Amino acid sequence: MEIPSLDWLLLACQCMLVSGIDVYTAAVYEHRSILNPSPEIRPTRQKALKHMKENLNIYQLQVYEASKQGAKIIVFPENGLYGFNFTRDSIFPYLEPIPDPTVVKWNPCLHPKAVNDTEVLYQLSCIARYGKMYLIANMGERQSCKRSDPWCPSDGRYQFNTDVIFDAEGSIIAKYHKQNLYFEEAFNTPKVVEHVVFNTPFAGKFGIFTCFDILFYEPAVSLIDNYGVKQIVFPTAWMNQLPLLSAIEFQQAFATAFGINLLAANQHHPEYKMTGSGIYTPFASHDYYNMESREGKLLVAEVPIITHYNGSSLELKTSQGTLKFPERHIHIEPSAPQLQRWSVQMDQSQQFLGAADGLGDIFYSLMMYDNYTFVLMTDLEGDLQVCSSTLCCHLAYQHSHASGLYALGAFDGLHTVHGVYYLQVCALVKCAGSSIDTCGQSATTASDIIDFQLWGNFSTHHIYSEILATEVKLYRADTLEWVNNNFYMTKQGMTEGLITAALYGRWYEKD
Ligand SMILES: *[C@@H]1O[C@H](CO)[C@@H](O)[C@H](O)[C@H]1NC(C)=O
Ligand SMILES: *[C@@H]1O[C@H](CO)[C@@H](O)[C@H](O)[C@H]1NC(C)=O
Ligand SMILES: *[C@@H]1O[C@H](CO)[C@@H](O)[C@H](O)[C@H]1NC(C)=O
Ligand SMILES: *[C@@H]1O[C@H](CO)[C@@H](O)[C@H](O)[C@H]1NC(C)=O
Ligand SMILES: *[C@@H]1O[C@H](CO)[C@@H](O)[C@H](O)[C@H]1NC(C)=O
Repeated sequence: MEIPSLDWLLLACQCMLVSGIDVYTAAVYEHRSILNPSPEIRPTRQKALKHMKENLNIYQLQVYEASKQGAKIIVFPENGLYGFNFTRDSIFPYLEPIPDPTVVKWNPCLHPKAVNDTEVLYQLSCIARYGKMYLIANMGERQSCKRSDPWCPSDGRYQFNTDVIFDAEGSIIAKYHKQNLYFEEAFNTPKVVEHVVFNTPFAGKFGIFTCFDILFYEPAVSLIDNYGVKQIVFPTAWMNQLPLLSAIEFQQAFATAFGINLLAANQHHPEYKMTGSGIYTPFASHDYYNMESREGKLLVAEVPIITHYNGSSLELKTSQGTLKFPERHIHIEPSAPQLQRWSVQMDQSQQFLGAADGLGDIFYSLMMYDNYTFVLMTDLEGDLQVCSSTLCCHLAYQHSHASGLYALGAFDGLHTVHGVYYLQVCALVKCAGSSIDTCGQSATTASDIIDFQLWGNFSTHHIYSEILATEVKLYRADTLEWVNNNFYMTKQGMTEGLITAALYGRWYEKD
């Protein structure tokens, strides 16, 4: 396999040609876990080990492949060693005690007898060691607790959904207990939220969190805001949900919003809607989404080391020091006449807002369990406005080929199904069918080419920008910016039909 070189990055950001940028090679593996067909029945430890060994052998092969391509770090998905839907009791034989790496330094490959019942840690450690790379694997952990501990579960132990980080010699250097569990009755939430940061010689520090964590302030955003983390490793087992929460869609949006690198490894089980992994920088993605394949997929790519990024100014590490990219160089600039056109449209729509009439007919429809207020796109070009509570969303658009039904939706409220979190969303969606009650349902194909500017007067600064084209392909915004209390996204010149363009705002303080 050919490793994408740094060209993919330079092409994508249209920066001047630069040499000497410090990069490292990263790998993520979208793993098709071999599953236990009866996860509700407790197996023996022997059977559990035999099962996990089948998955570990695949990990070993992938590390071998990644090492041939020079990878310094590899990430495997959440639940990768055993799968899903265990009970607290039935998962027990899969669990291992994991000594706290902040207390003891332990290399299981070199000292396998130091801790009993750690066959999985042993094999992972040896895989990292022989592959000479940092390895991040998710596994189950057990930790006995005392009756005097008021949080100690009645069976006398904690069970955690844990990410373990091995260095290139195979020593355990960090572990992280998943905070935001997603209906995982097998596991406990840690007593306090953990902010885990680990260091590497090739790229400095990384933060880590798991799957559902990515939607919450703690620990995901906090790692970036309060711990200066500029790269994240992200094991996940993400069930795609269109239009707004397909795995790659949100992964790219997260990396872009914070100006970080994100190494995301998902499960590959299209039958459970799980696919979508990638190696993301703030300005380019190397992603994978495949609903047809029945096999895992190794992604390997070069990643630049980001030393500073704040939305307008970017600095990368190079052999000579730091390379600063001037303002706006990281955006693909639309050509001048079109820019004028957009600014004209903006002015018009601001007047239009002031006039407060001309609103299209609004209707309500559920999108991902939330009651959105929608307005239909009825013309080939024009402006739309729709509001929900204190959020007003606007769209200026030009449609070159109209066949599908599209609507602009707004939602400002608390999401309460499968998790509680406050959203402010402006979304242009292709409706799944030809009647308005299908607006908000997932569409996966489209042929309509639409140039647009989408904006809203958000009350949160945490806005994740998403653009998906037909067959769930990722696109990036041309520009993203705040102008007078409105957050704007523009996109022109897409070559494929649009299925979703959204500003997915999270108002964490209101959760
Ligand atoms: C796990 O259980 C849920 C609920 O019964 C089901 O919807 C889901 O498909 C199961 N997932 C797997 C991977 O078996
Ligand atoms: C491991 O288990 C064996 C048998 O139960 C016991 O004798 C031994 O002390 C244990 N070793 C450690 C390091 O706990
Ligand atoms: C971004 O960082 C650059 C360089 O440190 C600084 O000059 C600029 O004012 C910052 N911009 C914003 C919007 O914070
Ligand atoms: C959505 O909200 C509107 C306006 O409050 C309400 O009339 C409608 O019944 C709601 N729809 C659903 C499905 O809750
Ligand atoms: C957004 O705009 C609408 C319409 O002008 C206004 O009613 C609302 O208060 C604004 N929201 C915020 C947070 O400023």
